[in-house]
Amino acid sequence: MQTGPSHGLPPGFLFGASTASYQIEGATTEDGRGPSIWDTFTAEPGRVVDGSSGAVTCDHYHRWPEDVALLRRLGVDGYRFSIAWPRIQPTGSGPANQAGLDFYDRLVDALLEAGIAPMATLYHWDLPQALEDGGGWLDRGTASRFAEYAAIMGDLLGDRVAHWCPVNEPNVVTLNGYGEGSLAPGKALEFGALPVAHHLLLGHGLAVQALRAAGARQVGTATNHAPVLPLSGSEADVTAASLFDALWNRLFADPVLLGRYPDGIADAMPGPVAEDLLTIAQPLDFYGLNYYNPQGVRAAPEGSPVPFDVAAVPGYPTTDFGWPVAPSGLTDLLVEMTERYPQIPPILITENGCSYGMGPDADGVVDDQPRIDYLDSHLGAVADAVARGVDVRGYYCWSLLDNFEWADGFTQRFGLVHVDYDTLVRTPKRSFDWYADVIRAHRGTTA
Ligand code: FCB
Repeated sequence: MQTGPSHGLPPGFLFGASTASYQIEGATTEDGRGPSIWDTFTAEPGRVVDGSSGAVTCDHYHRWPEDVALLRRLGVDGYRFSIAWPRIQPTGSGPANQAGLDFYDRLVDALLEAGIAPMATLYHWDLPQALEDGGGWLDRGTASRFAEYAAIMGDLLGDRVAHWCPVNEPNVVTLNGYGEGSLAPGKALEFGALPVAHHLLLGHGLAVQALRAAGARQVGTATNHAPVLPLSGSEADVTAASLFDALWNRLFADPVLLGRYPDGIADAMPGPVAEDLLTIAQPLDFYGLNYYNPQGVRAAPEGSPVPFDVAAVPGYPTTDFGWPVAPSGLTDLLVEMTERYPQIPPILITENGCSYGMGPDADGVVDDQPRIDYLDSHLGAVADAVARGVDVRGYYCWSLLDNFEWADGFTQRFGLVHVDYDTLVRTPKRSFDWYADVIRAHRGTTA
């Protein structure tokens, strides 16, 4: 359903853009910031396809006033950014580093002055290396350290941040960071990574409590979800897909929203699990959900370390990343989440976007029509879900800027704004103007 430029989305619907600290800030050794697992990981040969790192990336740490001006020009209601834990606590515990606090303090004030509601993620993957040296998320103590850090940030910004997302995509951290090792800290523990999920969930619950105690207003999540589709009708593929769905989608959402683990998983978890689940299932003000594409799954060959293989679902056009463009997957996901979890709080799409590599032409224009098509169809997919009764209150596009795309370095461009990594010049793409028009039109029709 598309009913004009505002997509028929409800009045008061929030439009935003998202980024993350390690992907845009740079300045990794400045003003007392400690090393993070991403500094370590990117220094290891072969980890990042183009051998790059976030040492400079968009240099947002120095250019943030320009980026806030871009956000103002875009006209967004909200901006989701993440706080680099190692800027606040260089070794992951102990007193806060004043320069780190000042950076986010100024950023939040500038956003508010621009009329933009700040949404802060506390953990978008840049764990202080010192904590990883002590076991990282395999160690229960990391959840307690995370709660202390959350309390520091809540005290500083609780009166000004509109929305809090404690942990970005705990499933990606668990499966890709500790399970198969394509992301930092690069451990390939297979099912041995399950305790990471429990400690991230516990960290989430403790952080929600700490934020609330500090007066935070709206606290939610930023969890990656995907419809999981068996790649054939064979019993083996259907079984593999159902296991992957439990690990990717339900391992995190069930404890947070239902206060229990999917069948058979609690036994694999460490510590006083029943008691921890009470902490994990804190009431939330919103459920933040990141969506990119559905995941296809088939049974892995005999003798594989895990019983499933994940592959792109065929039959869709793909982005430059090779990710299927499947807007209906977002509608299906939103409907399914509401059916699975009838008590789910209002949903915010905390990330959605696509990678297309085009840069400025001879006239300086970045014509990224495929991104416009992607965003347009996904906003339509949200509207379809709303029409089917799902309470979605906002959409934050990934990403404001082209940035350091983790193990894919600078080879994938997700931004509404092009960044030239040699000159650091920002050039708004055509999608930027299109999104600004969508936002304006929505306000005009629903104000
Ligand atoms: C998500 C991450 C985000 C970005 C997008 C493309 O999984 O949260 O940082 O890399 O993918």
